[in-house]
Amino acid sequence: MLAVAVLAAGKGTRMKSNLPKVLQPLAGATLVERVLASARNLKPERRLLIVGHQAERVEQQLSAVGGLEFVLQQPQNGTGHAVQQLLEPLNNFEGELLVLNGDVPLLRAETIDQLVSTHRSSGALVTLLTARLEDPTGYGRVFADEQGAVSSIIEHRDCSEEQRRNNLTNAGIYCFNWTALAEVLPQLSTDNDQGELYLTDTVAMLAKAMHVEVADPDEVNGINNRQQLAQCETMLQERLRQHWMAEGVTFVDPASCTLSEGCQFGRDVVIEPQTHLRGRCLIGDESRLGPGSLIEDAELGRGVSVVMSVVREATVGDGVSVGPYAHLRPAAVIGNNCRIGNFVEVKKSTVGEASKVNHLSYIGDAELGASVNVGAGTITANYDGVNKHRTVIGDGSKTGANSVLVAPIQLGNKVTVAAGSTLTKNVPDGALALGRAKQLIKENWAGPS
Ligand code: UD1
Ligand code: CA
Repeated sequence: MLAVAVLAAGKGTRMKSNLPKVLQPLAGATLVERVLASARNLKPERRLLIVGHQAERVEQQLSAVGGLEFVLQQPQNGTGHAVQQLLEPLNNFEGELLVLNGDVPLLRAETIDQLVSTHRSSGALVTLLTARLEDPTGYGRVFADEQGAVSSIIEHRDCSEEQRRNNLTNAGIYCFNWTALAEVLPQLSTDNDQGELYLTDTVAMLAKAMHVEVADPDEVNGINNRQQLAQCETMLQERLRQHWMAEGVTFVDPASCTLSEGCQFGRDVVIEPQTHLRGRCLIGDESRLGPGSLIEDAELGRGVSVVMSVVREATVGDGVSVGPYAHLRPAAVIGNNCRIGNFVEVKKSTVGEASKVNHLSYIGDAELGASVNVGAGTITANYDGVNKHRTVIGDGSKTGANSVLVAPIQLGNKVTVAAGSTLTKNVPDGALALGRAKQLIKENWAGPS
């Protein structure tokens, strides 16, 4: 039997943030979500999250994650005190307890798997993850022999100068024999620089303690301040790009682009410089994104091109060309082979196949059929100051330059709207609609020169 506990009750004082530390985002997922994900392979019987500082906010953020037990730690008197809160909920539990610091977000699932399997085969009462760091400042130091047996962990601030030279550091990830841990937990004392109960002190109390050194020390980066948050973001971004390059995505200037965990790319996608993808994005084969674009929570088909544009919560069909300088807003649904050109904004609208909105338009709350040609500067006037209204344009219709379609309004199929028209009434199939003043000519107006 395995239980996983994530320590997420701390305030994160060094972040100087109103947000609890474990809710800080990294590449589109919070620290605590990442930590939970690192234990996903293990399929634990129990998953407990120790919350305290802004507990409700943390619980709310994780409400969608099923099967989590929230355990309240109030006040937050150290990592040992945090784990003491498990004595009651795990009263009858027998097996291993995997403890994960909520602020160590880069751990790979395989590393955690290895820790647990080493623990099971060695028969130790606790096995912890360590790393040799070039700069171990701030981390607890692990004192171990050549066979990997650990005698103690001493926090950086409690170390002597001599002890600080030891660069074997504690990652904050432990696999305990729960029964043995439960026996020593009540014996912890606050006899240290911070006056807190340290989980790390249990290690010296457990007869056999072992450590497993990680191959890649970057994995065990703990986040205590904004500098470390930024470093981890850089590392995660690099990991994501490397992953997608291995899957057949080209990055023209990798370091200038950012991705989120929720992105999925087809083959031969090209990502041009200064392009950023956030949230959940699904990008079809052979699409070309950027330069200079922001794509968030969007689904793009095959062979889509997006240049210098923003696409948010929109769905874009195959072969569509977007931009330069277009803005697709939430619930824009663009059919196959459409063209959304310069300075065009589309919101909550469906654009049928092979339609073109090439220049300077606002299309909001509208439904455009197939092969519609929207002339330069056409505006759907969807808002009367109180309510939003719909515009419907049938297949094969054309609007002239600078048309205003005052919604609610319906234009049939193959309608032609004369340039400069302001239309307020529905137009039947095949009609020409003019809605502008007739041109007057007054000759010799200028008088003799
Ligand atoms: C801890 C370890 C240190 C290790 C480092 C790795 C201890 C005493 N020290 O130090 O050996 O090298 O992590 O990153 O454990 N938390 C609670 N309740 C509390 C206090 C903290 O839930 O009362 C949570 C925090 O939210 C955080 C985690 O425990 O997720 C670690 O706490 P933090 O204060 O950051 O510990 P470090 O000083 O980094
Ligand atoms: Ca920490």
